[in-house]
Amino acid sequence: MRLEPNPENIRHCAGLLQAGEVVAVPTETVYGLAGNALDESAVRRIFEIKGRPLIDPLICHFASLEEVGRQVFLSAEIEALAEAFWPGALTIVAKKQAHIPDVVTAGLPSAAVRMPEHPVFRSLLEATGFPLAAPSANPFGYVSPANAEQVEQTLGEKIPAILDAGPCPIGIESTIIDMRDSSRPAILRHGPIQPEDLQQVLGARIEDRVESPRQVSVDAQEKQLAPGRLKQHYSPHAEVRLLEHGITGERLSPESQIAFLLNKRPHFTPCPDNTYWLSEDGNLSTIARNLFRVLQKLDHLGYHKIQVELCAQEGIGRAVNDRLARAAAKS
Ligand code: TXA
Ligand code: MG
Repeated sequence: MRLEPNPENIRHCAGLLQAGEVVAVPTETVYGLAGNALDESAVRRIFEIKGRPLIDPLICHFASLEEVGRQVFLSAEIEALAEAFWPGALTIVAKKQAHIPDVVTAGLPSAAVRMPEHPVFRSLLEATGFPLAAPSANPFGYVSPANAEQVEQTLGEKIPAILDAGPCPIGIESTIIDMRDSSRPAILRHGPIQPEDLQQVLGARIEDRVESPRQVSVDAQEKQLAPGRLKQHYSPHAEVRLLEHGITGERLSPESQIAFLLNKRPHFTPCPDNTYWLSEDGNLSTIARNLFRVLQKLDHLGYHKIQVELCAQEGIGRAVNDRLARAAAKS
């Protein structure tokens, strides 16, 4: 059930969470499927509802840095990142303390933590008084939800409530940085916050440990440091094929089973009905915001194949291209 995020409904959802239930919540990145991070059975429910393998650890969300410091070990570098980017779309992997149940971190000695910016999620965190474990609110492997309708279509029957605050302002998942060893920072997942910006705050080189889907071996999948790196992920039911950035009109053809998804409104005419675009003008933030909504819509329209134009490989375009490459990868 979708609920308007008024104070009464936020209190109702806090009550559900206190009773060990799982609810869908808006964040500035994508909708999350939230449960009490300190309650092992609530966390197991999250895995069960998503159909997510237990080897894939969850992100814990907090209302304040002080609370983060009770669950993971902070360092001067982590505090500098928190100061610069929290609340916001940065997830930090750090050494965990003992209270976080092993099921949250898939048995790893580290935990992924984030202080979200979305006012509704923040109110909910303040109302519950405990950290919320929340992966994206989609069935495992499917596209992430950037609005409440997307959650309702895939998980609506399995959860008691979806707090509906409209579309997520960013639309793509947080950047993940590995800070287990503060002197060796590494990017594990590209997202809204860019490596250059992180580098500027840390004053240190940041290793890029995001493997391309082609590089991900079965072995790496089993070890699962960051399963967002799984070869096939974020994929609609339709087969996804990638087109180079800046394709021209000759590549389009009016086929009923194949959709073309471009970065911006095409200027070539006539433009076949099976042509869609993610922005008017190619703005990368707009493309990121629309990506998951439009992929799920094209699935609903019944296309068997989606030919998607890659973005410019810069800024948040890197994260968009990473999600597209995984959507196109064969499992
Ligand atoms: O924007 C986001 O990050 C959204 C919203 C809801 O906050 N959440 C999200 O969660 O994208 P999820 O579960 O779809 O992706 C979590 C990623 C996974 O790739 C997981 O491997 C990584 O975080 N992760 C979690 N714990 C980790 C750990 N201890 N070490 C390394 N990676 C970890
Ligand atoms: Mg996810």
